[in-house]
Amino acid sequence: MRFLITAGPTREAIDPVRYISNRSSGKMGYALAEAALEAGHAVVLISGPVCVAAPAGAEIERVTTAEEMADAVQRRMDTGCDVFVMCAAVADFRPRAVSARKIRKSDGLASIELEPTRDILATVRPPKNRRVIIVGFAAESDELEMNAQKKLREKRCDVICANDITRMDTGFDADENELNLYFRDGKKARLPRDTKLNLARELIKIFMMIAENH
Ligand code: PMT
Repeated sequence: MRFLITAGPTREAIDPVRYISNRSSGKMGYALAEAALEAGHAVVLISGPVCVAAPAGAEIERVTTAEEMADAVQRRMDTGCDVFVMCAAVADFRPRAVSARKIRKSDGLASIELEPTRDILATVRPPKNRRVIIVGFAAESDELEMNAQKKLREKRCDVICANDITRMDTGFDADENELNLYFRDGKKARLPRDTKLNLARELIKIFMMIAENH
């Protein structure tokens, strides 16, 4: 099978020095790439700026902004994949205008006007003649199940992997995670706390089961 996996944060420039981003380390997405490779699959990994070493054998495309990630995902989708896993933490907003020169402290900056970025998961178009399994993640601070189920429906995923991101020992920038899975057919599953690599191995098996039932 051919996996297309995104990982890490995006960065949205304010000026040549500063940007808006988030705490994603890339560890969860890179673990998924490693687990898929281990299981004998081909992997294209589209990665935002991270410090994690790329798993040997993955074809890696590095991007910075949400717009670059959106373009890379659609281009790779067009050339063919069987499972698409949107694990990246894409910035939801970017500055409406990017200053070409460094904004000086003496200039003052009362506010930054923001505009939404493209929602990659909700807008990516799989090729018409190909069945692609679509996997989303949901980073939730409250009402985890309700919000994850909403994302599952609105972003038309086969499964969404929800994590509680209020904790420091799991989720963003941690070595471990804990996931609640919500499937298109209404089923649910819980993957208890474990290393991101072990969870990724379980997830790859689950994605293969979805593929077999299609
Ligand atoms: O990178 P780590 O430090 O290992 O942390 C892992 C993680 C917490 C980042 C990961 O497990 C995770 O939850 N990734 C999704 C983060 C996120 O952006 O969640 P969200 O609930 O805001 O978005 C829902 C889904 O829409 C996600 O699949 C997201 O990739 C996607 N999305 C969001 C915004 C956007 N503009 N485009 C998108 O495709």
